[in-house]
Amino acid sequence: MRLLIAGANGQLGREISRLTSHHTLLAADSSRMDITDADAVKRAVLAFRPDAVINAAAYRFVDRAESEPGAAFSVNRDGAANLAGACHAAGIPLIHLSTDCVFDGSKQSAYSTYDATGPLGVYGASKLAGEQAVRSLCERHLILRTSWVFSPHGSNFVKKILELSCTQEELRVVNDQRGCPTCAGELASGILHALESGVEAWGTYHFCQPSPTTWHAFAGAIVAEAGRQDWPLRSVRILQVSARELGLPAKRPANSVLDCTDFETTFCYTIPAWSASLDTVIRDLRGASRVI
Ligand SMILES: NC(=O)c1ccc[n+]([C@@H]2O[C@H](COP(=O)([O-])OP(=O)(O)OC[C@H]3O[C@@H](n4cnc5c(N)ncnc54)[C@H](OP(=O)(O)O)[C@@H]3O)[C@@H](O)[C@H]2O)c1
Repeated sequence: MRLLIAGANGQLGREISRLTSHHTLLAADSSRMDITDADAVKRAVLAFRPDAVINAAAYRFVDRAESEPGAAFSVNRDGAANLAGACHAAGIPLIHLSTDCVFDGSKQSAYSTYDATGPLGVYGASKLAGEQAVRSLCERHLILRTSWVFSPHGSNFVKKILELSCTQEELRVVNDQRGCPTCAGELASGILHALESGVEAWGTYHFCQPSPTTWHAFAGAIVAEAGRQDWPLRSVRILQVSARELGLPAKRPANSVLDCTDFETTFCYTIPAWSASLDTVIRDLRGASRVI
């Protein structure tokens, strides 16, 4: 298969590139293909002639988006629209990533793809607008909503907690938001499985790793695993705080657990638990000395 990846230098983009040596790949970072440039996107699709495009590009600064809505909508809505238009013109599918932040978090159980959306902030609104653009412009699409992505690359919660645990004695972590951590490598495997399955069941799906947790409990799991792997941590205390106490600029859903049953049954795939992925990512980081 010939695959074009937009946003190839991000967490997901790098993992897809790592897992696709058996395919012909154009891994386009933002300098090679800026998805907000409609002509650049068309040119790349026409020149490379992919069998499918994966959009791993995003404006992902949830807090900064509150004061930069133009930048967030430009990448997350207009960039997605440019890719969807080019894919439709070429008659190829677009795999597009979205977020748990399209929900308002008021539901008590896991969100299915049939639940009403209601983003609380600019980032979620811009991603929701991107979903709508993809649906209206490119019939052959897979929209995958995911959550709490971590990997050995880029910036993410796992790396932040490890970094702070090596330098500080006390961390304050939110305990009133529930969700599912998702390793970029597992997300990439799921995407490739769906593409390679040949199942043409276009539409919107959820993809995250079981089981649901809070940011506070996730931080505890990260520190515990790093301890088992002999990281030189300080004896860090992880204090529970509410999102309100932390006072970040963007509101986030209190519950953003995603029900992934549709993805698993449609593509005959079992998404593994995040705990095993966490062990691997922490081991990779230690091996590469990426955090300390
Ligand atoms: N990370 C999470 O916790 C999370 C949670 C839910 C959903 N998601 C979704 O999952 C997907 C993958 O996320 P991720 O964590 O891999 O993101 P990431 O690590 O932030 O990577 C995003 C990539 O997009 C690139 N990009 C930004 N603007 C671009 C543009 N105009 N043209 C081309 N590329 C551009 C960035 O490149 P530069 O660095 O060069 O700007 C960056 O490499 C995104 O759709 C995101 O919204 C992520």
